[in-house]
Amino acid sequence: MEQFKKRIVYQIWPRSFKDSNEDGIGDLRGILSKLDYIRDLGADTIWLSPIYATGNKDFGYDIDDYYRINPEYGTMEDFDDLLMEVKKRGMELVMDLVANHTSDQHVWFQKALKDRNSPYRDYYIFRKGRTGKKGESLPPNNWLSAFGGSAWQKDENSDEYYLTMFTPNQCDLNWENPKVREGIHDIMRFWLDKGVLGFRMDVINTIAKREGLPPAGKGKKLDFPFEHIVSLPKSHEYIREMHEKVLSNYPHVFTVGEGMVTSMEDLIRYTDPDEKKLNMMFQFDLHLIGCGPLGKFDFRKGYLWSVKEMKEIIFNWQLQVQEGGGWLGNFMSNHDQPRQVSRFGDDGPFRRKSAKALALLNMTLRGTPFLYQGEEIGMTNCPFEKEEWKDFEAINDYKVLQEMMHLPKFAAEKVIQKMTRDHARTPVQWSGKEYAGFSAVEPWIKVNPNYTYINVEDELKKENSLIRFYKEIISLRRQSSALQDGYIIPVNREHPHVISYKRIYNEESLLMVINLSGRNTEISLEEVMTSDWACELGTYEMRSFEPILSLHPYEALVFRKIKSLDKISK
Ligand code: GLC
Ligand code: CA
Repeated sequence: MEQFKKRIVYQIWPRSFKDSNEDGIGDLRGILSKLDYIRDLGADTIWLSPIYATGNKDFGYDIDDYYRINPEYGTMEDFDDLLMEVKKRGMELVMDLVANHTSDQHVWFQKALKDRNSPYRDYYIFRKGRTGKKGESLPPNNWLSAFGGSAWQKDENSDEYYLTMFTPNQCDLNWENPKVREGIHDIMRFWLDKGVLGFRMDVINTIAKREGLPPAGKGKKLDFPFEHIVSLPKSHEYIREMHEKVLSNYPHVFTVGEGMVTSMEDLIRYTDPDEKKLNMMFQFDLHLIGCGPLGKFDFRKGYLWSVKEMKEIIFNWQLQVQEGGGWLGNFMSNHDQPRQVSRFGDDGPFRRKSAKALALLNMTLRGTPFLYQGEEIGMTNCPFEKEEWKDFEAINDYKVLQEMMHLPKFAAEKVIQKMTRDHARTPVQWSGKEYAGFSAVEPWIKVNPNYTYINVEDELKKENSLIRFYKEIISLRRQSSALQDGYIIPVNREHPHVISYKRIYNEESLLMVINLSGRNTEISLEEVMTSDWACELGTYEMRSFEPILSLHPYEALVFRKIKSLDKISK
């Protein structure tokens, strides 16, 4: 079995993980001080969101220099120490590779801007503008940026525009240019040679743009050019080339792709081992449940969804990716999503119970599980005032919702408050001390006021704690080939509130039964009565197997097959 299937990845968003020098900003020494904690959870791989030099318009995803550490986070020496200490504990480090764009402060872009005849001009996507009816200068086309507004910025010196699909300072690279690709390959080699295990690749399915940059959608209003930037044939070629020229020289390299609206077919083509591209990829359909077609701030479906829909999304992906020979990275939350208990569970009375159910789900599906800082203590969304938002996406889309979608202020605020990435970015709540034990001074972003009762220190002391449950379910996964690489087969797929499935690898069979609702319910498990099952793990208590099982709110169970009854009767 490939090593990447066995890994359990803990994602750190450095700015909010742990502050070591009392400036209110998380840093590398802070991470170093918590490595034992991460190892004790059972994770063996740490993915660091970007730690490179940055202007922080997109908090690290706008990179000024891929060879330098953000001074707020420390020095290269701190990084080398961190890497050594990670390895000393038998863990590995995965870096974030942001290859779709650099920041506008990157030396390539600075050179491109200074001199339109510089070879660096062609590292980016510069185009002449259009002239409007009144002679005014308009952007080259109607492309909308992912964070709202035109995707083009004007270069006042040359009267040309340059493409920025995310924040206005994230300049899209021109992957057609072989020099750009070599430049990215060099960055990758630099970090791999230092000893990192691999990369999480940021929006990697949008690196190729359609030739001629044709208008998006109907071509009139601003529109997001899904059809011209997502998973074009060339993006597959570029990733294959990256594999051939770089990744294949590092035999144990770990790669996970992130992309927007990845289709099932594309995900399989990126991750099928025969394609020689990536180990695995994330999909976001689950995280977009209840959202309209334009994404997370498209409120037109009212963020309403049912467990039945959630199950169908999960099973669809699980079964088709299995069928197609691909591999998923599974996650319940990350730095771009609201907190998982608030989004998919209950952040009120059933907070701990629903967090356990979601943890059990994430750790037992087919694919490599990722958990995000704070998930293991059930951190929740944060009650922000709009003046407290820090994320460009939140601040900009608040305007866009009013201007383009004609929402009144209070409604726009509600939509942002529901989905803002800031929820994931409040400081990790280490203790009930002031500022949640994250820092001795006021942090750069609001601390969730519930740190007084949701924090690591208290959670570690509790008998039925969530952390303890994470340790149990992770340790079960580590010992189970069925969970690491088994087939998945849905059980009672029609049930409206409970998701249930088997995972099977040779002789080993496990059965998961997870009530994803806040109500008592019953589920018929008659279809698996051909075997005898023993309870292996439960979020309320251990239970004996029954053909009609009644479940408490958010109750989740794992059963292990002890013998096949049909074999015995033969
Ligand atoms: C990815 C990152 C997100 C970032 C964007 C642009 O979606 O996860 O945080 O803003 O790419 O780099
Ligand atoms: Ca600091």
